[in-house]
Amino acid sequence: MAQKSSMIKMFHSLWAYVVLAALLISLINAIRGRSQGRAFGAGNRNLALLPLVAAHIQLLLGLGVYFISTGYHALKAEGMSHVMAHANLRDQVVEHPLTMVIAIVLITIGYSRQKRRADASERFKTIAVFYGLALLLILIKIPWAAWMD
Ligand code: HEM
Ligand code: HEM
Repeated sequence: MAQKSSMIKMFHSLWAYVVLAALLISLINAIRGRSQGRAFGAGNRNLALLPLVAAHIQLLLGLGVYFISTGYHALKAEGMSHVMAHANLRDQVVEHPLTMVIAIVLITIGYSRQKRRADASERFKTIAVFYGLALLLILIKIPWAAWMD
């Protein structure tokens, strides 16, 4: 049981690198594509899809981690006001999941919007704006101290 718990947490922790790398590559490609006035081909489409799939997988992993987290156990045992009064518990139960879900929703909206644009420059711009905002939110809410230790 304890081993299963740490396994999914480990995957969530490792997969964060994939999400960050995919977002960063896709974002840089979109900014360069727009500024260089490039056409939007299959390579660009795949580079836009990569962070979407990576983020959706991270959402599933995050949900798995959520229900075995210290914060969730504290929520069940002590209630919401206890969780809210402790920064680390509040982060696990509320701030991190909520911020990350918003980031993932932004990626999903950005992806489906660019798909509906005919103009290459508009597609690059849509990706740059939505993925850029998502990356910012993710960077803000990664628990850096816990991740790096
Ligand atoms: C809790 C889990 C998940 C939720 C709530 C979710 C939700 C969504 C939503 C709302 C869309 C619609 C985007 C649009 O308007 O086009 C979408 C698209 C997509 N999702 Fe997920 N997803 C989840 C898990 C996954 C997983 C695990 C994968 C891959 C292994 C995945 C891959 C995709 C792909 C490839 C698309 C879009 C394809 C396209 O439009 O070209 N999703 N998802
Ligand atoms: C792009 C999305 C996300 C990224 C990049 C991300 C990244 C991370 C990272 C790096 C950690 C630290 C792991 C460690 O201690 O080594 C973490 C912890 C955690 N994540 Fe996420 N996460 C994301 C989405 C989510 C979502 C959607 C949920 C819940 C629905 C979630 C729930 C949690 C929980 C509960 C922890 C704390 C685990 C614990 O210490 O017991 N995450 N996340």
